[in-house]
Amino acid sequence: MRVDGRPTRTIWLEPDHESVGIIDQTRLPHAFATCRLASLADAANAISTMQVRGAPLIGATAAFGMWLAMRDDPSDEGVARARSRLLATRPTAVNLRWALDRVAAALARCPEPARADAALACAGQIVEEDVTINRCIGEAALPLISRIAERRDSGPVNVLTHCNAGWLATVDWGTATAPIYMAHDAGIAVHVWVDETRPRNQGAGLTAWELANHGVPHTVIVDSAAGHYMSRGEVDLVLTGVDRATATGDICNKIGTYQKALAAKDTGVPFYAALPSPTIDWTIRDAMTEIPIEERGAEEVTRLTGRLDDGTVATISITPPGTRAANPAFDVTPARLLAGLVTERGIAQASEQGLLALFPERQDTGDQEGAT
Ligand code: MRU
Repeated sequence: MRVDGRPTRTIWLEPDHESVGIIDQTRLPHAFATCRLASLADAANAISTMQVRGAPLIGATAAFGMWLAMRDDPSDEGVARARSRLLATRPTAVNLRWALDRVAAALARCPEPARADAALACAGQIVEEDVTINRCIGEAALPLISRIAERRDSGPVNVLTHCNAGWLATVDWGTATAPIYMAHDAGIAVHVWVDETRPRNQGAGLTAWELANHGVPHTVIVDSAAGHYMSRGEVDLVLTGVDRATATGDICNKIGTYQKALAAKDTGVPFYAALPSPTIDWTIRDAMTEIPIEERGAEEVTRLTGRLDDGTVATISITPPGTRAANPAFDVTPARLLAGLVTERGIAQASEQGLLALFPERQDTGDQEGAT
């Protein structure tokens, strides 16, 4: 997508082929800053501090992290150490494990001196595939928006989204946002309700920034307003991302997704989750017990960071000193609440049969890892 008119991705190999460039998402929306990852430690740190975030981008960064690690230690122990260090950065999005498994499988076929190049080639493939996958997701979900627009006499199609499943969460396009950008570019009037997405405000800070950059009309709302707008008929469609889906079609996504799905079900608003196939964990069937939910620091709930009127960025406390706060970062939305799963191969019914109809090669592979 474009930043100030310039085509920009979230991650790239620097021209000197010595390091990896990223957008530092902890600085957005107040500053657009990039930084370089030059070591395994840099890559692991970028994921755990959420300079990069979003399931697909976490996976791509980890793949590059394997390359950076292989330059220093391409031994079998080096591969295992790098893999486990990167795997420990964030627990919920399965794209991380998927990418690491894919790079590790490529490295297992290589003599040590060739491993850095092999890891870089694999990271490059993951990056390019992610762009293609997201474009296909956009094309698959575009008719959901255009059909509503065709039925409509006037006014935009109102799409509600949660968190940031936009291009900042992927390499390019985004998953939930890809059809929105495509609709907008095709001249369809779209308006996006952007959940602010407490506590880290990925909606207010990142999705709003993306949509503004692309000129897509949008309105930020507090998380608790979504049901209100749905009940008044002011939401036509809910589109979110996914951090991990089970083989049975349940999804785990940013905390608050479940509540949107409940409200959507009650009000008859179709709720679609968009996900690239590397987000499907074919090894699990029970999202409630088998997906680790990341528990993040209490200060994300008790404190808020924002820009003051004088332009400086500051963090303030919003609770009495010493207040206890819980901060689960993700929740599970059962398949029964979903109208469908948008994948790069089309829209699947949110069920095991639905997923297998699109990914027949996954039949009877439930005991294998979800890679490649
Ligand atoms: O904690 P984050 O910001 O990494 O969470 C991101 C999300 O929950 C996204 O919806 C998900 O990763 C899908 S991104 C295409």
